[in-house]
Amino acid sequence: MSHVLAAVAWPYANGPRHIGHVSGFGVPADVFSRYMRMAGHDVLMVSGTDEHGTPIQVQADKEGLKPRELADRYNRVIVEDLHGLGLSYDLFTRTTTGNHYRVVQELFEGMYRNGYIVPKVTMGAISPSTGRTLPDRYIEGTCPICGYDSARGDQCDNCGNQLDPIDLINPRSKINGETPKFVETEHFFLDLPALAGALRTWLDSRQGWRPNVLRFSKNLLDDLQPRAITRDLDWGVPIPLDGWVERPDKRIYVWFDAVIGYLSASIEWARRSGDPEAWRRWWAADAEGKDAPGFYFMGKDNIVFHSVIWPALLLGYSGEGDHDGQPGDLGRLNLPTEVVSSEFLTMEGRKFSSSRQVVIYVRDFLSRYDADALRYFIAVAGPENQDTDFTWAEFLRRNNDELVAGWGNLVNRSISMAAKNFGAIPPIDPAGLTEADQALLATARAGFGAVGELIEKHRQKQAIGEAMRVVAEANRYLSDQAPWKLKDAADKPRMGTILHVALQVVSDANTLLTPFLPHSAQKVHELLGGTGVHAPMPSIVEVDDLDAGPSYPVLTGDYTLGARWESVPIVAGTALAPPKPVFRKLDPSIVEEELARLAG
Ligand code: MF3
Ligand code: ZN
Repeated sequence: MSHVLAAVAWPYANGPRHIGHVSGFGVPADVFSRYMRMAGHDVLMVSGTDEHGTPIQVQADKEGLKPRELADRYNRVIVEDLHGLGLSYDLFTRTTTGNHYRVVQELFEGMYRNGYIVPKVTMGAISPSTGRTLPDRYIEGTCPICGYDSARGDQCDNCGNQLDPIDLINPRSKINGETPKFVETEHFFLDLPALAGALRTWLDSRQGWRPNVLRFSKNLLDDLQPRAITRDLDWGVPIPLDGWVERPDKRIYVWFDAVIGYLSASIEWARRSGDPEAWRRWWAADAEGKDAPGFYFMGKDNIVFHSVIWPALLLGYSGEGDHDGQPGDLGRLNLPTEVVSSEFLTMEGRKFSSSRQVVIYVRDFLSRYDADALRYFIAVAGPENQDTDFTWAEFLRRNNDELVAGWGNLVNRSISMAAKNFGAIPPIDPAGLTEADQALLATARAGFGAVGELIEKHRQKQAIGEAMRVVAEANRYLSDQAPWKLKDAADKPRMGTILHVALQVVSDANTLLTPFLPHSAQKVHELLGGTGVHAPMPSIVEVDDLDAGPSYPVLTGDYTLGARWESVPIVAGTALAPPKPVFRKLDPSIVEEELARLAG
C-alpha cells in the first residue's frame, strides 16, 4: 500500500460547472481515486474553488456583487454540482480560507528567502480614459507566440502559453476597445531561469506521461523568462513582505495562489482529521526516502501551470534551483509524478460558452438524467486524448444501447431469473462447471488485472471497454446457455449453475465498473443481496474556518469502507428479490428536446 495524491484542477468560482468542466478532470480523477482506494492505496484527493483574480472580478462586476460574495455564491453551487456527480474528494475546499492564505504566504516567503522571488520594475496597463489599472483578462490582442488574434493578457487559449499583457501585439481593452497605456509599476517575479535546470532534470525523469503532454511541457522549458507573480489588484492574497502586506492595490497572482491550493488543501484536510501533520505522508519523503506519487488532473489549457510553474514553486521553496537555499518550515516538498492532462469537450460541434448559451450545466443535466449516465458517457467517449464532441444523439445511443441494453440487461435478466426460479442465489450443481462456465468466470477474473492496469495508466476509455467486454461475454453466455429453457425438474440444477455463474460475473463486472459508475454499483451490490457500503459517497459538510473566517461548505467523506478490487465469491442461498431496473432507458425524443433547449 502506498500513499497516492490525486490533485484535481480548481474550478473558478465564477459560475456553475458545465459538463465540459467535469469531463476532462473531475470525473477521471474520481475514477482514478476510487480505483486506487479499492486497490488498497491510501488516496488523498483534494481540490477546491479558485476564487481570486480577474476571472472572479470580471464576473462579480457583471453580477453587481463583491468578488467575495460572488465566490461565496458559486463555491456553494459548485460543491453541489460535484456532489451530484459523486466525486469522492477527501477535501474540496476553497482558496479564500485562512489556512490557504497562510500556506500561500509561507511558500512566497520561503521562495523569497531562497532568492527565487525577486522584485522588479515593470510596465503595467492602465486605461487611458479612467486612469485605472486594466486587469489582464480585460486586455486582448494578438498572441506573440502563435499569432492567435484574441489572446488574453494573461494567457493564450490557442497555444496555451502564459503571457504578459505588454507582449500582446495590438493590445486593446475588452471594456471599450481603447489601447491600454503601460506605466511603470513594481512587481515580484518568479526567477524561472534559475529553476530551469532543476525543472529539466525532473521532466527528463518523467515516464508514462501522455506523449503530447510531456512534449509540450519540455518545449516550455526552452525559453523560460522570469514571470510576474503579483498583480495590480485588490482581490487576492496579500504579499507577505514588509511594506507590501498592507498595500490595498497589490496582490499575489491568482495562478500562484491556486496551484498552492493542492498543498494547502492537504494541510487543511490533516488539520481537520485531528492529526495536523498527516499531510506530510503525501508531500514529504517516507522513512526510506521515497516520495508518495502525486497525480494532477486538468484540461490542456492548464498544463504550463502544473508542469512548469507549480514544480518551480516546489523546487524554489525546497531550495533546489541554481540559487540553492533551504526548505522552509514545511520541509522539502514532493514534485508531481504525472501531469494528467485531457483535451477539450465540445458541445454539438461548438466550443462550450456560457455567454453564448452553448452549454449544459451539470445541475441541469442531473435534474433530468442520472449521474452514472453522464459518468458512463464521459468514461467511454470523453476527451481523454483528443478533442471530443458531446452530442445528445450519441449520449442517447450510449445510454440506451450500451448501458441499458448491455449492462442493465445483464443485471436485470440474471437477477430476475434467479429470483423467480430460486428466490436466492442458486448453488452450483455437484455435477460441476462446464468449460463455458469456467471460461466466463476466468474472463471476469482476468478483468481485475486488465482494467486496473489501464486505470493506473490513465487509459480509462480502454479500461471501461475491458469491463464492458466482460459484460458482453456474460450476455453472450446467457444467450448460448439459455437457462430459461431448463425449467424441468431434471434440468433445474443446471439452470442453477448457469445462473450462479452469471451472478458471479455480474458481481465481478459490478466491481470492475464501480470506479466509473459508483451510484449504480451500490444498487447492483444491494440487488445481489449485499449490505453495507460498496461505493462510498462524498457528503457536503458545513465547516468553520480553522483560522477565524466565515464558515463554508466542503465536500468530504470516509472512503475506507468500500469494496476491494477483487472477485468476491457470491454465497449460494443469499435471498434475491425481483430487481428494479438500475438504469433508465431514455426516449429518443430527448434529443430534439435538448437541441431545442440549446437553441432557445
Ligand atoms: N481555475 C483554473 C481554471 O479553471 C484552474 C486552476 S487549477 C489550480 O482554468 F490548481 F491551479 F488551481
Ligand atoms: Zn498563442
